[in-house]
Formats: sequence, structure tokens, C-alpha cells
Amino acid sequence: MCGIVGYVGPRDAAPILIQGLRDLEYRGYDSAGIAVMPNTGDEIAIRKREGKIANLEAAVRGGVPLQGGTGIGHTRWATHGRPSDTNAHPHHSCGGDVVVIHNGIVENYAELKAELKAAGHTFASETDTETIAHLVEQQVTEGLTLSEALRHTTARLRGSHAILALNRKEPGVIAGARIGNAGGIVVGFGEGESFLASDLAAVIAHTRDVAFLRDGEFVTVTASGVDCFDQDGRTITPERRVVPLDPVSALKGQYRHFMLKEIMEQPVALSDTIGSLIVVDPPELQLMALGAAAARLKDTKRVVLLGMGTSLHAAMIGRRYFELFAGIPAEVDNASEFRYREPVLDAETLVVTVSQSGETVDVLEAMAIAREAGSAQVTICNVEGAQTTRVADGAVYTRAGMERGVASTKTLLTSIVALYCLALATGKARGHISPQDLAGRIRDLVILPEAVASVLADADVYEQMAPALARFNDFLFLGRGLAYPVAMEGALKLKEISYIHAEGYAAGEMKHGPIALIDREFPTVAIATRHALRSKMVSNIEQVQARGGEVLAIVTEGDTEIPGLVRYTVSIPDVPELLEPIVATVPLQCLSYQIALQRGCDVDQPRNLAKTVTVE
Ligand code: M6R
Repeated sequence: MCGIVGYVGPRDAAPILIQGLRDLEYRGYDSAGIAVMPNTGDEIAIRKREGKIANLEAAVRGGVPLQGGTGIGHTRWATHGRPSDTNAHPHHSCGGDVVVIHNGIVENYAELKAELKAAGHTFASETDTETIAHLVEQQVTEGLTLSEALRHTTARLRGSHAILALNRKEPGVIAGARIGNAGGIVVGFGEGESFLASDLAAVIAHTRDVAFLRDGEFVTVTASGVDCFDQDGRTITPERRVVPLDPVSALKGQYRHFMLKEIMEQPVALSDTIGSLIVVDPPELQLMALGAAAARLKDTKRVVLLGMGTSLHAAMIGRRYFELFAGIPAEVDNASEFRYREPVLDAETLVVTVSQSGETVDVLEAMAIAREAGSAQVTICNVEGAQTTRVADGAVYTRAGMERGVASTKTLLTSIVALYCLALATGKARGHISPQDLAGRIRDLVILPEAVASVLADADVYEQMAPALARFNDFLFLGRGLAYPVAMEGALKLKEISYIHAEGYAAGEMKHGPIALIDREFPTVAIATRHALRSKMVSNIEQVQARGGEVLAIVTEGDTEIPGLVRYTVSIPDVPELLEPIVATVPLQCLSYQIALQRGCDVDQPRNLAKTVTVE
């Protein structure tokens, strides 16, 4: 979580840092701060404020102008210490010469803090991060350079970290470290200037020439260059690459919220993703980034799919694709549970991770286990060069463009497409799917952008329903088969952006407990489309209504029976069964969005959440 940004060059650092923080605000918005180092070697100036970047901006505008071409900035998702001005980063050492920002958790901070206090250090904040500033200060006081001091300090920290640091006595220098999977550091190479950030979003407006630090790598940047080191201080050459990300897709444009923009972009996101993964005439797959994993698909005997949150729901849908297309056992697991079990893996297991950001810590830790076991790994990811893509043997990229709303929307739909194509490729490599079936399944994809566009064309319907539905404090979402993960996704969307309690259940489970919740104040959203075991869902609907519960049903166009049974109905076009989750999810996104608006919630930055979860 947390976003970090650094700049060194001829321009004033403060506006660049603040813009960078705006680009990273989706990573955390409990507080924000910047530190600017004058080129003269004078004191490093720090401004920080609880709350969103707007508060920091006001503080910067209203105070003594911050002058200097070197600086670091941070947007926080609080772990240790409540959100407050004092706990906001950057943090400085007692002497004020060393200033740090940090993403991660210093797991042994209590013992370090006790040791530092005993040595005479005084602490200003409740954070774990402040120990880093004091430790670095100890080292530079003993004569080490900032870069050396950071290396020595990280050797004493437990946990995973991304850190940037300044030392007043080294004007024009920023030192950085990446340890473990708490979050990445991207280095941006400019013309006479250098950039550092948690991810590309804050760099791409300045340069597309970048390098990603790997675990255990350190960096020192100045205006004229970038030096990278390993833990022992040996120089290493960063792997530079030119990234193709389109910054335009990060702008909100005409839309009130990023989430709405991203919902409306889904037809284009689907068409770009599908266009990049298949050719239609003659029908063929083109999974260009599969790399070394391509050769291992044919030997795959089992698939394990992993993800978190919305990406886990995509993985649940993907399981069915692998079973059907490749004819092999497929399991799905929550990466945070998987990593703490003793999972049985071997070289014939294909591990498929789904992570739109490619930065989710639990996914990365699960991947480390899979690598140790020698399993082949493919990751589904929306960010070229993200961490998961560097760990996996190969990737299937979604082409959704940058997703800024904390609630995942377009990346879910495109991840499902990517899983579908990967499962087809596995089935083909194993000789399980016939050429005719393969061709038909590929052609099926082509209708998706149009089908989703037609659901979005009716977006007004949700606006009309929302006032009546927004008064409820609890919802049950029910689905069967592939509609079960859709129900879970519907519940997740609703709870995260409108703070309404919502449960997503396999409809068959209803009578095993959840039905006890049903009354007039506990409505149900039932996914009762043609392919979702419709007749069984009709029974569920009747049982809910018999207990006074209101029902909103998602049905297939042309269904004349269910609309007569329930209070609210939304129709979706009839598409092939395996692709229906992609279309059926869209009404649930729109509904959550409209209900959240009705309840006055901050749709793009819901409370307590961050877009990317890089700490446990
Ligand atoms: O970047 P990832 O796909 O790995 O993120 C996983 C989850 O944190 C994410 O899907 C989260 O559940 C959604 N933002 C919820 O809408």
C-alpha cells in the first residue's frame, strides 16, 4: 500500500512530487507528505498532513515556498500509528539531517525503537518507519554515505520494505532500497533528471524509460545518473525498458468518478484485450508473453489458480475453463491462505496467478513458494513489467489501461478473458480440445464488447433503482455455477464502495444458514440467467420471497417468467455460457456505483482501502 515518489533534477521538486502523489493516491490516502532538499545544503523542509493530498497541497500553498530540486513524497495507508499529521511520512531523524519515506512494515520495530531510545534517540511519531530514519542517521554520523547507511540499516530490519531517503549533507542525492515484496520501486530515467516511484503511474508523465528494482536491490539517483547496488554494495546494471503505458487512460475526463469511467471503458478494454490475445481469421490464439511457460503447458497435469479479492473471483471462474478445455484438475485458492499452508506442488503443476497490479504481496509470496517447488507459473496482469510478471515464467497481459478506481471493474472482465485464452492454450498444448472446438471458443469471444456495451446502454436503470435499494443495510447475492463468483463479486463491490453489509453465496448454500437472515429488510440479488441453473434459482427466489425478502434478479433477455415474480429485474444479452460471467458482472458494478452515490460515499477512494495491497 502507500505510495512513494522521488525527484531530483533542475526543476522545483515540490509540484512534481505532489502530482506524483496524486497519481499514487489510490495506494493509500490516510495522510500525505513531502520533503524538499534545497540545493544549498540547508535544512530539509517537510510538509505533511493527515487526510488526502488536497490537505497537503493546501499546506504547501499556504506555507513558506519549498525550494529545491531534490525531494521525496509519500501517501500513506496507515499500519502502525493512526492517521495524523505527526504519523504522516516523511519522518526525520533526531538531528533532522536524515529524512525517509517507507512502504512496508518494520516487524522488529519495537525492539529497534527500545534500542535507539536507550542510545538517546527521541521519537516524534508512533510509526515503525521512524526507526529507519534514526538507524540511517546513526550510520551517516559514523561516516557512511547515505547509500551505505541505507544498506546497513535494511540489514537490521525484519519484513519487506520500499524506502527512499535523503541526507542534508548529500544535496542532490536520493537513496532507495527494495527489500522483499512490500512494494516495488520504479526508476525513471529523464533528461538531466531522475524519478523514483512505487509504480509507473507517477513516472509515466515524465519518462517511459524505466527500470524496476528487484528484491534486495538499492539505488542512488542524482540529476545526472542512476547507480544500482546489491546488498553487498556491488554495482549492478538495472534492466532498462521502455514502457508503453498510455497515460491518457489515467485521466478522469468527462466522468464524475474513475470507477464510472472504468465501467464505461469495459467494451474497449475487452476489445483491446481480446484483439491482443487472438486472431479471428483463421481463429488462433496469440499469447505472446507466455515465454518459457509456453513449452511447459503440454506437460501440465494440474492447475492451481491464485488471487485475492476481485482477482480471486476471476480465478474461480478460470478454474472451470481449465477443467473443461484442458481436462485436468484445477484448484483455486486465496493466495494469503495458500502461502501459509504446505501446498502440494510439483513440476507438472501450472500455477496461475491473477493480479491486475502485479504487486499484491500475498500473491508474490505464493509465487515464491511455487518457484521453489519448480512449478511452471503464468500470471495474468494488467501492468507490463509489474513484479508478478518478473517472477512468473510467462504472462498473459490484459489490455484494460490503467485502473485508478479502488474498486476493480475493467481489470476483472479482461482477466477472465485472459484466463479463458490461457486455458484454451493449455487445452490445445495437451491435445485435449479439438481444433473445431478451439476455433469456436475463440470466435465466441468476439461478441463480448458488443454484449457489454448493450448492458451499459441501459445504465439509467440502475440510477432509477438505487434510491429504493440504498436504504437497506444488508444484501444477499446468490448465484450457481459460474454465477457464484459473480455473486461474490457483486457483494464485494457493494460492500467496498457503499459500506453496506453484503454476503455472496452459492445459492445451494442458502438453506444451510443464510436463509435465516432473510426478512423484509434483507434483500437478495439473484443471478438467474439462462445458463446459471435458472430453474434452481427460481426456487431460491421463491423461497426468499416467501420469507418477505425483496429480490432483484439478473435474467437473460427474453425471460418473461422471472420479471413477473420479482420486484426488480435487469436483463443481460444471451451469450455463450462460459462467457456469461463477464456480462453478468456489469449490472452489479453499475448497481453498486449508483447505490454508493445515493449514500454519499467516496466511490474512488473508499474508507480504509487502498488499490494495491503490499503489506499483510
Ligand atoms: O492488484 P490485484 O488484482 O492483485 O488486487 C487484488 C485485490 O486487492 C483487488 O482485486 C481488490 O479486491 C479489488 N480492488 C476490489 O475491487
